Amino acid sequence: MPSQEIYDQARDIQAWIVGLRRQLHRFPELMYEEIKTSQLVRETLDELKIPYRAPIAKTGVLATIGTGKKPCIALRADMDALPIHEEADVDFPSEVDGKMHACGHDCHTAMLLGAAKILKMREGQLPGTVQLLFQPAEEGGGGGKQMCDAGVLEEPPVEKAFGLHVWPLLPTGSVGSCVGTMLAAAGQVQIVVRGKGGHAAMPHYCIDPVTTAAKIVVELQTIISREFDPLNSGVVSVTCFQAGDAYNVIPPTAQLRGTIRALTAERFATLKARVQAVAELVAKANQCEAEVEFPGIDYPPTVNHPEVWQSVRSIAGPLVGEDQVHVMSPIMGGEDFAFYAERVPSCFVGLGVRNEEQGATFGVHHPKFKVDEEALPLGSALHACFAIESLAELSAGTS
Ligand code: NI
Repeated sequence: MPSQEIYDQARDIQAWIVGLRRQLHRFPELMYEEIKTSQLVRETLDELKIPYRAPIAKTGVLATIGTGKKPCIALRADMDALPIHEEADVDFPSEVDGKMHACGHDCHTAMLLGAAKILKMREGQLPGTVQLLFQPAEEGGGGGKQMCDAGVLEEPPVEKAFGLHVWPLLPTGSVGSCVGTMLAAAGQVQIVVRGKGGHAAMPHYCIDPVTTAAKIVVELQTIISREFDPLNSGVVSVTCFQAGDAYNVIPPTAQLRGTIRALTAERFATLKARVQAVAELVAKANQCEAEVEFPGIDYPPTVNHPEVWQSVRSIAGPLVGEDQVHVMSPIMGGEDFAFYAERVPSCFVGLGVRNEEQGATFGVHHPKFKVDEEALPLGSALHACFAIESLAELSAGTS
């Protein structure tokens, strides 16, 4: 496979990819509000004469390159930004107060458009179909699930899927992933503790939801440390504790919010059940009531298929050098690429974007998060090579 040739082609269009990325970076949009983003994607596809279906899942776009028939593979990029005010040292900062592409989804979208351009030039040689999934709402909105529910993996049936995420722990010019579980199952929890408010000088006439909620925060931590196998662990992080607003008033309620995570679906279900029981029973022991909810969409664990990871390795190795293809350990971050990986054999890959000299060292979701844009052509090349290689394998019946 001419993977080196494709990488060269991606480098030739680097300025074009970077231009798109910077345009997206300047105008970040939050989940299910990716109006301008989606428009830029569609306009670029129009320029490239690539047909697409839109809107899907509110702001998503499904573009198609190739024969329109089997075999079919999918490449995915997410498009949404975060409610973070940008402090990064870049010449093209966010022009929207309080919103920032702090997770690199601007890069993901631009890299997939780069791959689209390369694949379109080779469309006549493709022995099948490449579906390009530009999805909304990865950051908690479950856009990947909405895309799947809208049938993006069905016509023609997608047999493999590939997704990239910029990875600030890995240096530019390297990639990483693993077999099996790479990212955790993740969900949100909200606990409302109800007591009885009154004068803070006379707590005995009240039922204090603040002390009760504080006990719940501490007790939740012992689910992980005392009930879970340390080698198959989880996370409960209470990130929000809201109660009254006066020095001398015991409020009637206190509210806790946070995230819960585990590496398997079973562990995750156990964790949810235990969080609910502990919160309710600690509240009861303190004469309060706890109302436990799990709002939002739970993300399954992101699980990579061994064969698909193997084909990614065999593509990436010659491009970046075998020693720059890292086998990563799972982390407790969540990703809605998991919804595709649940349905078809898939691989999610971390693309190194760390560059100490440029100050590109901050983690995702940090206001100073910065990406080494030299990595972007590699991302486009990996997408395109994965598509070409996978279709060749599938059409030859070797996979
Ligand atoms: Ni992300």
